[in-house]
Amino acid sequence: MRLILLGPPGAGKGTQAVRLAEREGIVHVSTGDILRFVVAWKTETGLEAKQYMEAGKLVPDELVLELLQRRLAQADTQAGYVLDGFPRNRHQAEELDRILEETGHGLDAVVAVEVSDETIVARLSARRSCPTCGRTYQMTTSPPREDAICDRDRTPLEIRDDDRPEVVRERLHVFRESTEPLIAYYEERGLLSRVSGYGTMDEVTERIAGAVKEVVAR
Ligand code: AP5
Repeated sequence: MRLILLGPPGAGKGTQAVRLAEREGIVHVSTGDILRFVVAWKTETGLEAKQYMEAGKLVPDELVLELLQRRLAQADTQAGYVLDGFPRNRHQAEELDRILEETGHGLDAVVAVEVSDETIVARLSARRSCPTCGRTYQMTTSPPREDAICDRDRTPLEIRDDDRPEVVRERLHVFRESTEPLIAYYEERGLLSRVSGYGTMDEVTERIAGAVKEVVAR
């Protein structure tokens, strides 16, 4: 199974991609997580990516595509994956088509998770992330057991640099300009289903899993 979760920042793609991957027995591939990893390691690529990420802009395609291609060449992706945060524009979508064609695979479904801008701003200002394991929390609706400490590994939680309101506004702008047009790109191929990102995380997971089944059965 090869799936894509599309949606604006804060729609819940990361949260749901982890759940969907577990359910389907496939891996979660997040270009945002991969980029944050190279940034943390202060590699040459990481230092370049950091400036774009902090400004809420897309990291240049060549850089992201190289990282993604390396990730998709790893053995654990062979049974399938959920892509989260990729593709982000038409060029990335076409490059993904090329990679899939070369490996003789196809996409099974693309799910667009929809929430309002107001919800996005509220969710991202209340998001805290664990720098060790990457788990995210919502301080208003699903906080950790102990204040600002990760339940899993007890690391103090952090606020992502790009969750500052002015950067969130830029990320939303970039989404509308570059990524949202991909909804039509996949809709034309009969691969797309739109789901509401509202409700509990469990409710959204059920909705997405149902949407995937429905697209696969088309
Ligand atoms: P990336 O990490 O991909 O960020 P994003 O797409 O902006 O999405 P987020 O991670 O902010 O949100 P999400 O939709 O995953 O929501 P989450 O589940 O965390 O990218 C970061 C940057 O990297 C980009 O700006 C760009 O610079 C660069 N980049 C990445 N990929 C790239 C690419 N392909 N090309 C070029 N550049 C790239 O949920 C958000 C919050 O809401 C959490 O606190 C969560 O707990 C909470 N929440 C989730 N679901 C619910 C619910 N149902 N109810 C209440 N709260 C909920």
